[in-house]
Amino acid sequence: MNQRQILFFSIILTILMTMTNFSQSKMGSFKYDDFKKPEYCGSSCHTDFYQQWKQAMMSQAYTHEWDEIEYFQLAIPHAERDEKVAEVKAGCNGCHSPIAYLAGDIPPPLPKMNSRANESVSCDVCHSITGFSGDTPYNFNYIMNPGKTKYSSRKGEITSPAHDIEINPIMKSGDFCGICHNEKSPYDVWVKSTHLEWKDGPYYKEGVQCQDCHMPKAEFKTASMGIKYPDARLHLFHGAHDKGKLRGVIELRIYPDLNEAEPGETVKFTVALFNQKTGHKFPSGSVEDRIVWLNLEATDEKGNVYHLPVDKKNFSGEEYTIASNVLAYQDMGIALDKPDFEGVQRDGIPVGNRIFRMPYFDPKGRMTIQQWNTASLGVDYRIGPRETKTETFTFHLPNNLPPGKLYVKAVLNYQLLVKPVADFLKVPESESEIVKINEQSTSITILP
Ligand code: HEC
Ligand code: HEC
Ligand code: HEC
Ligand code: HEC
Repeated sequence: MNQRQILFFSIILTILMTMTNFSQSKMGSFKYDDFKKPEYCGSSCHTDFYQQWKQAMMSQAYTHEWDEIEYFQLAIPHAERDEKVAEVKAGCNGCHSPIAYLAGDIPPPLPKMNSRANESVSCDVCHSITGFSGDTPYNFNYIMNPGKTKYSSRKGEITSPAHDIEINPIMKSGDFCGICHNEKSPYDVWVKSTHLEWKDGPYYKEGVQCQDCHMPKAEFKTASMGIKYPDARLHLFHGAHDKGKLRGVIELRIYPDLNEAEPGETVKFTVALFNQKTGHKFPSGSVEDRIVWLNLEATDEKGNVYHLPVDKKNFSGEEYTIASNVLAYQDMGIALDKPDFEGVQRDGIPVGNRIFRMPYFDPKGRMTIQQWNTASLGVDYRIGPRETKTETFTFHLPNNLPPGKLYVKAVLNYQLLVKPVADFLKVPESESEIVKINEQSTSITILP
């Protein structure tokens, strides 16, 4: 081949590649009008799916208060000050408001402006995705093909008057979800890895998909003029914002090493925590925000309460898994234009409690809730799918402990966002409300 032929073939190849859309859909490559509004899909045909989606976080990914606060008060100002993270000004929207990103509307209008950015992760976002570029789904590497054809997992017996349907096997796979549920920071660190955790765990091996737990099957009409299917996929997308889904995720058992003891003796309590329900680690997703902790309290015959700190295991990085009064999250000062910001309390929970989490560190090695500013990760002390962790608590019984029963209660608590950060940024209460995941009690007899 001579040079002109090479040029000719490479042009043809480029045209073919663009036509078949093998590359990630880029910012500015579409218009808002290329995508149908969710109301169009939901007003007369897919009425149930629409109502389900409306109640899910998917429909609020751009408008939810904490998302608005983090994007407008922290991410944008930070991206404007620090070249290294400049890409997130647009990039947050790649997952939270894909059509605003694709339309190049950056930053999108504030949620109160009621623009089309508010549609968040809409019907036509997911049902226009044909696949993802590369080998691993992450950082919104979707390939979008909006238009008359909607991609779905079933063609159905009745043709839709509104659009064509093409079967896309990826819709039945957890890989589809990974497009937005895996995220790498500008420092090349995996800051969201729900899909990768699932892929490493037992559920993937058994063929259980994300859809099986977050889009459960039920007998249902998928469209008002359609027929009933025994296995229609409810669009619930219920996760950490659903208290019912959280409750009982981890099972607790607690037992003592002695059934009777005298004041001054030492009793050891063991707690087993079994992850019975999640297909990935717990917590997953926005791990930088979440906090899960185990609280142990003993109550004696007279009603005196003793808070028991967890026994140390002495693994590296353990200090991040035991509640303390240290300050953290100083890097919020970059966006807030307070270079000497001293930070807020790291945990905001009773000191000495065991925390199940993975700390995220900024380039200076300080703990951060800003996943885009994450340069490294600390010890991963979360509870994997079907994993059991055990914790022990050694109680030196006080000499004045009254005889009778001593009750010991273990409670596992959860917050979507660590409280000191929520208070500092004035995030609505619901985001830092304490959710009880589970509790279990035991008792011993104190001899006179
Ligand atoms: C186009 C991007 C995108 C795709 C594809 C996607 N999600 Fe999401 N999903 C999001 C975003 C963004 C949120 C966060 C909403 C928020 O809290 O701001 C979210 C939230 C969720 C939640 C709620 C979590 C909570 O904290 O309550 C669940 C559950 C969920 N997604 C499951 C799935 C499953 C299952 C799939 C695949 C069938 C999927 N998602 C595909 C973007 C996506
Ligand atoms: C986060 C991505 C996502 C969003 C948002 C979404 N869907 Fe889906 N939808 C899916 C996936 C994935 C499937 C296929 C699941 C499977 O079969 O395992 C599906 C399936 C369907 C089906 C076929 C169901 C069946 O059982 O045959 C219809 C119809 C549908 N969606 C309509 C809608 C409508 C209407 C909306 C908006 C109100 C919507 N979807 C929003 C991901 C999404
Ligand atoms: C075996 C059932 C199961 C499977 C499979 C599963 N999940 Fe979950 N998921 C849960 C449960 C239960 C919760 C609620 C507890 C929690 O927040 O982790 C949850 C929570 C979540 C959350 C919120 C996490 C947080 O801590 O904020 C997201 C997001 C999510 N799932 C997405 C996915 C995606 C994406 C997949 C596939 C890659 C998936 N899930 C597979 C059961 C499952
Ligand atoms: C690769 C896709 C992706 C990108 C990029 C992304 N997010 Fe998210 N974001 C998600 C998903 C998925 C969730 C839900 C995870 C969960 O529920 O645990 C989420 C959750 C959140 C939450 C927590 C919502 C809650 O109520 O707990 C906030 C806040 C947030 N994102 C803000 C941002 C900001 C700001 C950026 C840009 C710096 C950003 N996100 C970039 C996918 C993404």
